Amino acid sequence: ADKIDRQARRILRDNDRGGYTVPTAGLYPYQWNWDSAFTAWGIASFDIKRAWFEIHTLFTGQWDNGMVPHIIFHKRADGYFPGPDVWAVPRVPHTSGITQPPVAATMVRSIYEQDKRYGRVHMELIYGRLVSWHRWFIANRVHDGMVAITHPWESGRDNAVDWDGAMANVDGSAVGEYTRRDTTHIDPEMRPKKEDYDRYLAMVKYGRDCGWDEEQIREGSPFRVADVGMTFILLRACRDLLHIAYDLDHLTDEIEGWIRLLEEGVKRHKNPKGYFDSIDLRTGEFADSLSSASFLNWYAGVEDTDMLAHLHDVLDRVEFGVPSFDPRGDQFNPLRYWRGPVWGMMNALIGIGLEEMGHVPIAQKLRKDTQRLISESGFYEYFSPIDGTPAGGHAFSWTAAIWLTWAG
Ligand code: DGY
Repeated sequence: ADKIDRQARRILRDNDRGGYTVPTAGLYPYQWNWDSAFTAWGIASFDIKRAWFEIHTLFTGQWDNGMVPHIIFHKRADGYFPGPDVWAVPRVPHTSGITQPPVAATMVRSIYEQDKRYGRVHMELIYGRLVSWHRWFIANRVHDGMVAITHPWESGRDNAVDWDGAMANVDGSAVGEYTRRDTTHIDPEMRPKKEDYDRYLAMVKYGRDCGWDEEQIREGSPFRVADVGMTFILLRACRDLLHIAYDLDHLTDEIEGWIRLLEEGVKRHKNPKGYFDSIDLRTGEFADSLSSASFLNWYAGVEDTDMLAHLHDVLDRVEFGVPSFDPRGDQFNPLRYWRGPVWGMMNALIGIGLEEMGHVPIAQKLRKDTQRLISESGFYEYFSPIDGTPAGGHAFSWTAAIWLTWAG
């Protein structure tokens, strides 16, 4: 285990580009929002100072309206598309125009609590930034207590079955010629398909043509989905933000209101089949996707016996942790990104939630599964939940981070 710990720290150091950490060399050569939050959490296990630095560089990308973009393009890097020229956001550092799951408040709270004496001034500096990001979500993205995404990339679960219905409404036929870079790094069978990519780019073009104006995007965008993962993650993040507010002696009413609102929204995510699901806000239809995000309810502090039954059912069908899509479903594919593979950081979030809510044996099983995946195959981006085949990028930062904090 010592040897694997050393490898994990080594990956985080190797992926350091000077104040920020790339998710993996080649495939993702910039600072990604939720990757970076996980990574900071991992770095905190051996270098608290550097962990805070990671958080500060992430927030240099924050927009004036509070949004924290999903990619911060600090400096030129090769091998990625779509880069800063495509997003065309008029600010420095250059950024993308969409956000990503707000795990930061949760990770920052953990980093702060590991060393409050050192962290106090950093926490004071970052607190207001976290509040304005969450406030941006509430003002622009929360519908009936559920969090909407305007692009599948915002969910972090790019090609999840959750978006299939809504994606059918997006016209990708006019995007023209472009060269994908992801498939030069990774086996195309493990990545989103071309028809998905055309639509991803059509949505980027739409947002750019709106000047990234949230109101215009809300009115006209062909894609708007209440993402069950986002709702759970924001709810959890608001609970952690509330703890930080108490600790720093800030006012708490506003955050308490957000928590009540999101708790109501969670109930609306429950579909007629009895599990938590995403909803196409253009049609009101459930996605009918039991994904790993459906099981983030415990992480969000929401107990649910139906979900516990579903979890046992799903785990009985696979070898390693929670698959990103229901292995009983026709669309299940054990190697294609978010349509089946198991992701270490999702196991970690689900496991942490289960453990906090008293489901200790099942939480331990998820940890052991993740431990085996990493120790037998290495620090890959994701794995087949059936036989543990490693997939996607390797020497991956968040996989190393969750080894150091949770799985190892
Ligand atoms: C990609 O380019 O595949 C990323 O997931 C977008 O953030």
